[in-house]
Amino acid sequence: MKYSKYSVIIIGSGIAGLYSALKIEQQVNLPDGLLLITKSGLGESNSRYAQGGMVAVMKENKSDSVASHISDTIKAGAGLSEFNTIKFISENSDAVVHDLLKFGVQFDKDENDNFCFTQEAAHSVRRILHSGGDATGRMIEQALCKKVKENKNIEVYEKTDAVELLVQSEDRLFNNISFSEKSQEQQIDTVLSPYRPIALSSDNSYTSIPPNLHTSKNCKGVVVFNSETGEYETIYSSAVILATGGVGQLYKYTTNPVDATGDGIALSYKAGAVLQDMEFIQFHPTALAIDCDENRFLISEAVRGEGAKLCDADGIEFMAKYDERKELAPRDVVTRANFNEMCKNKVNNVYLNASCIDSEKLAKRFPNISKKCLENGIDITKDFIPVAPAAHYFMGGVKTNLRGETSVKGLYAIGEVSSTGLHGGNRLASNSLLECVVCAYSVADYLKTLNLKTPKQIDEEIKSIIDKYNDEDVVLEEIDVKSLKSELQNIMWDYVGILRDEKSLTTALEKLSNIKFPRGSKCLNRDEYEFRNMLIVAKLITACALERKESRGAHFRTDYPKMNEACEHSVIDNSGKWKVENGKLSNFQFST
Ligand code: FAD
Ligand code: SIN
Repeated sequence: MKYSKYSVIIIGSGIAGLYSALKIEQQVNLPDGLLLITKSGLGESNSRYAQGGMVAVMKENKSDSVASHISDTIKAGAGLSEFNTIKFISENSDAVVHDLLKFGVQFDKDENDNFCFTQEAAHSVRRILHSGGDATGRMIEQALCKKVKENKNIEVYEKTDAVELLVQSEDRLFNNISFSEKSQEQQIDTVLSPYRPIALSSDNSYTSIPPNLHTSKNCKGVVVFNSETGEYETIYSSAVILATGGVGQLYKYTTNPVDATGDGIALSYKAGAVLQDMEFIQFHPTALAIDCDENRFLISEAVRGEGAKLCDADGIEFMAKYDERKELAPRDVVTRANFNEMCKNKVNNVYLNASCIDSEKLAKRFPNISKKCLENGIDITKDFIPVAPAAHYFMGGVKTNLRGETSVKGLYAIGEVSSTGLHGGNRLASNSLLECVVCAYSVADYLKTLNLKTPKQIDEEIKSIIDKYNDEDVVLEEIDVKSLKSELQNIMWDYVGILRDEKSLTTALEKLSNIKFPRGSKCLNRDEYEFRNMLIVAKLITACALERKESRGAHFRTDYPKMNEACEHSVIDNSGKWKVENGKLSNFQFST
């Protein structure tokens, strides 16, 4: 095995990973350099497919304000969003947009050179910036990728999976280790008990992790696997930043590309980090209801924002029955409406009618959606678009404060893998890209205050982790991961989906527990590593969904259809010893 060291390692090359790399390179003292690893190619990510846009409360948008953005986010998030978090992210959106412009990102402008703002569900004003019409994610990502590629101080490993975090207990004595020795212990692995109880915090007013809530764990680096060469490498670092994105691939129907397998969440869980709000999966109401192998193409909410209507096969509109905001009700409400119509009429989809929008505007504003639909024989200027809900976004994740710190020292999380408390029970459209960039900015701002010396010595605990991957004598027989993956995706869709109840969740846990995946830590290939992670995360989501006995936002329990009076986050870790204490995060400004 190869060994190396870097001052900072970033795992993931979506918008959170790319932007944090650029900001860290710009601001942080990096005696041992900066490494960005990604399991596919640079830029392959959920970020690339973002359509609608990015929320920005811009000073020039006189109809908007931070207060209005906070209010919309809290309402959409069913009360669970954290005030301080939203305020921080919202207040810094203008600064971050201007910084992105400096990196070559362009947002669409009108003929007078003013930003164009679009509307999406549950926003009370037009405040969403977009780029390339409906190609916002791709446009931002391409600009950032270009800068990362040009930057000689950012080393990039592609086709490289992070497979385990090097975590040691803090109070251990350090020993000098000879790396050539091999441990006899191969079997150490975290076994997840699916019925582990979760603790619910009663304090909804803060997002910080006060110092005394750090676990006694310390992250010293990561073991990575090159899926092309099959080689492992141990990388030591004093700051490991997870930017690994979401979990959509856990579901049969998803808008997320193949990489969204929850790796960062599984790795953090195994490392002992605290996870938050794991039961909250956002299902987007309008994925194109045409089967593809891996995911479903998204029909952006911005199409409804511009006036498109949902209807049944006869063209009868139904949203007024469900919510007075109709098509622009929060995403969870529209999703359940679509799902209900589909179940009631025993059909696989409803329809979106965009023919009421001026056809020139449609073509200009949504070039990619128009093209994709046309490829499938649908002319969106006159045909109904068949749409159905699909898993889209993960509101839960690794609990962090606004500096990206997790409960494990030296381990940071930003972007969709993190749970900052912004999204609450249901993410407000286009808040995710904003969270990615503000938190990427903020983690860099924090790291520049630290002395990032890489560890010189490691202890037995870390050595035993490395040894599991060093052992070349372990012969692994191939497993049919493709069918296991599809079994898991079916279970999650059928039993842990848009509507849940005790019976469905218990059934899911049983079925997930019956899936045999005979691997310890070391797997044969990338597909196996991903499946190992998916299985851990699926059990966690299901266990947390079973524990939350209420309906809130995207978590809808038919056996507990009402919202509890107490508005509480759920937290879980692999020790069951999580304790919640009060603490307030003070708002801090960027030092640009
Ligand atoms: P990602 O962009 O998902 O990147 C994760 C990266 O981590 C990838 O490069 C992946 O390969 C890598 N990775 C994962 N695991 C490992 C591992 N073990 N080792 C190494 N690398 C790893 N949000 C908005 O705000 N506005 C929108 O308009 C919008 N539209 C969307 C449309 C679609 C179709 C989808 C799917 C999502 C949309 N979202 C939107 C959500 C938003 O795009 C994502 O939440 C956001 O881009 C996540 O960015 P990220 O950098 O955190 O993760
Ligand atoms: C969309 O364009 O509908 C997706 C926006 C988002 O997920 O925030």
